[in-house]
Amino acid sequence: MLTTLIYRSRLCKSVSSPFLERLSGKAQRFNETVGVTGILLFDGDYFLQILEGQSDAIDKVLCRVSADPHHREIVQLMRDYAPERRFGNLGMAIIDMRNRQPDVLIEEVLKQGTARYPLTYGDRVFKFIRTFVSGPRKSHLSLPDDSRQWRFESDIPSVQVTPSRPDKAACQFALQPVVETSVRQISYLEALIRSPSGGSPADYFAAIPADKLYEADLYAKNAAFALANQMDIGSAQIAVNLRPMSLVMVPGAVNILLEQIASNGLVPEQVVVEVTEDEFISRFDEFEKAIHQLRYAGISLAIDDFGAGFAGLSLLSRLQPEKLKIDRSLIENIQSDGPKQAIVKAIVDCCSALEITVVAEGVETAAEWRWLEAAGIRHFQGYLFARPLLNGLPAVAWPHKI
Ligand SMILES: Cc1cc2nc3c(=O)[nH]c(=O)nc-3n(C[C@H](O)[C@H](O)[C@H](O)COP(=O)(O)O)c2cc1C
Repeated sequence: MLTTLIYRSRLCKSVSSPFLERLSGKAQRFNETVGVTGILLFDGDYFLQILEGQSDAIDKVLCRVSADPHHREIVQLMRDYAPERRFGNLGMAIIDMRNRQPDVLIEEVLKQGTARYPLTYGDRVFKFIRTFVSGPRKSHLSLPDDSRQWRFESDIPSVQVTPSRPDKAACQFALQPVVETSVRQISYLEALIRSPSGGSPADYFAAIPADKLYEADLYAKNAAFALANQMDIGSAQIAVNLRPMSLVMVPGAVNILLEQIASNGLVPEQVVVEVTEDEFISRFDEFEKAIHQLRYAGISLAIDDFGAGFAGLSLLSRLQPEKLKIDRSLIENIQSDGPKQAIVKAIVDCCSALEITVVAEGVETAAEWRWLEAAGIRHFQGYLFARPLLNGLPAVAWPHKI
């Protein structure tokens, strides 16, 4: 299928025109052999390249492009499919934008077009070109990546305990911290359910009969609060995941939670309930009423896995949580993914207007963390800092500038 790929990148150090000519020559020759066409715009600092061809040929070119040390901060902005090529005559033409007026450049781009229908303002590819040529420079700036200048080291060792009492729910919990790296503090601890043998949440719930699912979910929280008590978490906050329908299907669910919290020596203000819409919330009014009760009791609310499944904007507008956790699927490789960057920036803006704390989940690389921090996120969770530890609190690997 004919694929169109657009990426933006940034030059490493200033280059001479012969460099651009050499680049164009080499690129042109390779692209011709694999049937790729396109154009490359250069404004003296940034590149914007449009590549058209069969998917596997585009990937081959992208591989060469990514390996070139002359540029960095390569961000894919669009990968789409089209009935025909827009720049079908050109293996790779470079348009050097320096010292030239935007309207002249736009004319030049239009002249290169080979599509049956002329490039129009409605065409997304042309819109990317227009913005790059004439839009405010700031709108296409990527955030700097200094990820190679950081190493991650823990200062305090992990702590593990033997659970003090066998729980009726026959489950265990692992703790994973959410960290605020700029002040080197643990923001709060999340208790993640594990099966009796230490298996995943899916393993635990697979062994529960369908008609006991919600009760099991709710009563299991007692073991999480008991672990928090045993670990002596002081005034730190502890978060538990709850299926939204557990609050609806189990009579008196909020009171049961409050009793569990009190009987384990905790106060509601240090508890965060994380909800996600991984199943349809069929009786939303009752669910919302239970949430109001939780809030009235002093318990904090977080929307979990935001951006995955159904956990989306409607839930955010109706619940107005204290915290919003961005799903790992939006975090993975964000430093090179234009659509994810645009979505996460919008989430950060929205949460800043509503005074909601944003947490990035599933952070695994320094490059992801650096991009997210530069975008204004302060709270992080993920293997880069700490993996969940069964019946214990893992050591946190804090960032140190090299
Ligand atoms: C902004 C930019 C655009 C590039 N576009 C292409 C391209 O369209 N096709 C291609 O094969 N290589 C492209 N490259 C990669 C270089 O041309 C590639 O590194 C070079 O062909 C390999 O050269 P070498 O033989 O000196 O290692 C691009 C590199 C840069 C910096």
